Amino acid sequence: MYQLSFSLSEFMAEFWQKKPTIIKGGLFFDTPQQGFVDPLSPDELAGLSMEEEIDSRFISNLNDDWKAEHGPFSEDKFAELGETNWSLIVQAANHWHPQAADLVTPFKEMPGWLFDDLMISFAVPNGGVGPHIDQYDVFICQGMGKRHWRVGAKDEGQYDEVCRNSALRQIDRFDAIIDEVLEPGDVLYIPPGFPHDGYALEASMSYSVGFRSPKEQELLSNFADYVLAHDIGDVHLHNPEQKTQSANGMIQRNDANILSDMLKKATQDPALIDHFLGCMLSQSRHQLNVVAPEEEWTMDDVMQHIQLGEGIYKVSGLRALYLETDQNTLFINGEVFPLEAGLEPLASVLCDDDEIEPQTLASLTSIPAAIQLLTELLNKGYWFTE
Ligand code: SIN
Ligand code: CO
Repeated sequence: MYQLSFSLSEFMAEFWQKKPTIIKGGLFFDTPQQGFVDPLSPDELAGLSMEEEIDSRFISNLNDDWKAEHGPFSEDKFAELGETNWSLIVQAANHWHPQAADLVTPFKEMPGWLFDDLMISFAVPNGGVGPHIDQYDVFICQGMGKRHWRVGAKDEGQYDEVCRNSALRQIDRFDAIIDEVLEPGDVLYIPPGFPHDGYALEASMSYSVGFRSPKEQELLSNFADYVLAHDIGDVHLHNPEQKTQSANGMIQRNDANILSDMLKKATQDPALIDHFLGCMLSQSRHQLNVVAPEEEWTMDDVMQHIQLGEGIYKVSGLRALYLETDQNTLFINGEVFPLEAGLEPLASVLCDDDEIEPQTLASLTSIPAAIQLLTELLNKGYWFTE
């Protein structure tokens, strides 16, 4: 089991969205003595980058000639590579590789809605993506090999973007406030807006545990999509009190107020906003390994499975959420599942944990609505059995 050597809650108070830092030996497997163990090999990572549904990138920088290419890659790609100056990056590796998914377990003390994905990069000496600024919080955990990282002061508009390659949003050189070599198990935390640059000193694996930081713009534009999709506010201006005016070009204060109220109406409905947030935050930004079962489950099949004493598992990376103030509405992968009164404990069973234990399942067998929901979720491929 992957574990952190530090208290995440203390870390949050001191560093989260405040300043970058390095925690030497921050992540280990089973015991601090054992140190860090890579959840997968570079070959396995290359294998993932050959899959159609997995996002991957190959970046090379020989002689400062930056090139970026999107996967999937073929076997040939890896046959002809040089020994330096390239790196291979796989996004949302936790959706596809169970051991890689285990690496994010210690970060589950963070809200699930805030977590984005685990990105894994393999780099040969001098490989990296160049100096850049990200708009999200990331814990970069060093696996095998060593990598030199530099981090600069927070971006206040002092950094110039340079275009070494149109697919890479790089910046010019920056002064470092952190300048260190990461070794296996070291963790580098970088808040949004701090420029950074990491290049491998030897064949190296990095595991980036990334978090979202939604932009106001993104919330507004997603809300507009939500309003259209749910046919909300399908009403026209209605003002039977409309007055004439002597100045034709003027917008009367009262008219502007009426329109402004129309605009605000939807955003002032707390239940609607909660529903929108649940839908939006439960959507994954990366493809999931969702496979509908070959044969549909019936409620009887589910009952039989439970009687065999076997568990049921959530698809890795699936986002299942509920609001603290409403445990009768589940948001799963952008879909809404209402829970009838009495079924509130299911919110925690389905959303807080990745596995539904046999004992928990056994306690649900007397509740037909619970079995019905499990059947539906199994048939969608959101949960699965071994
Ligand atoms: C990388 O691992 O090469 C890039 C990680 C990052 O800087 O965001
Ligand atoms: Co970055």
